[in-house]
Amino acid sequence: MMETLVQHFKNVEQASIAAADLIIHYAKSAVSDKGNFTLVMAGGGTPQLTYELLGEPFRAEQMPWQQSHFFWGDERWVSATHPDSNYSMVHNTLFSKVHIPLQNIHQISTGHQSPEIGAEVYEKHLRDFFLSNPIAVADSGHDNLTFPSFDLVLLGMGTDGHTASLFPGSKLLDEKNKWVAAVTEDVGSPPIPRITLTLPVLNQAKNIIFLVAGNRKRKILDTFLHKQERQETVYPAARVKPKDRLIWIVAEKE
Ligand code: 6PG
Repeated sequence: MMETLVQHFKNVEQASIAAADLIIHYAKSAVSDKGNFTLVMAGGGTPQLTYELLGEPFRAEQMPWQQSHFFWGDERWVSATHPDSNYSMVHNTLFSKVHIPLQNIHQISTGHQSPEIGAEVYEKHLRDFFLSNPIAVADSGHDNLTFPSFDLVLLGMGTDGHTASLFPGSKLLDEKNKWVAAVTEDVGSPPIPRITLTLPVLNQAKNIIFLVAGNRKRKILDTFLHKQERQETVYPAARVKPKDRLIWIVAEKE
């Protein structure tokens, strides 16, 4: 049964320390259990300090970089060097500062003809990766569909309740087969097409951390915790239910 934990912090600094330390905890425990660690990273502004903290020598020396594989929950349809690129954000805040084998970095490539093709290519990449690491694949238990089982997914949430690039009202919220999907309308901030992991993939993960800051997001979370059912139709983030543990790290101030 999934366990939900909510941790409140005064500010983003304290929340980010908690998130960075949890990533290290899950990394060490996955590596000692099965030899590798798979982490899906969030884009947007809030997790940037967490990535910077992970790259500081005191924490970086505790991370099993060689055995850790890094993926993205979503990507904006811009080039990998664009300031809005989620890949570029993690590269600048973390990967440029630590020694990670290049093959452990699994970016969502935006160098394809269309977001749809980009989504297919990333799904194929994930399938190849997880097929060669069968220990990381779990049967979803229904319809004989198989989804990957990431050890840890870090997510953010928008003030409209979106997470990754799963926006309120999107038909993608009903996706049952795909691992990765294109969001072809111009949505979110910045309003551009995107590529995102789907809900069944997020929900097959072992553990998920939401890192959110500010009063508006805290209030949305409070509504989830109290009236879950109705909120699921309104806020995509309320539909996220991993297998083992869901941790909300909430910073009071943005
Ligand atoms: C993205 C995201 C997105 C993000 C939320 C929250 O690429 O935009 O992955 O889902 O996590 O929009 O973003 P902030 O933390 O910047 O508010």
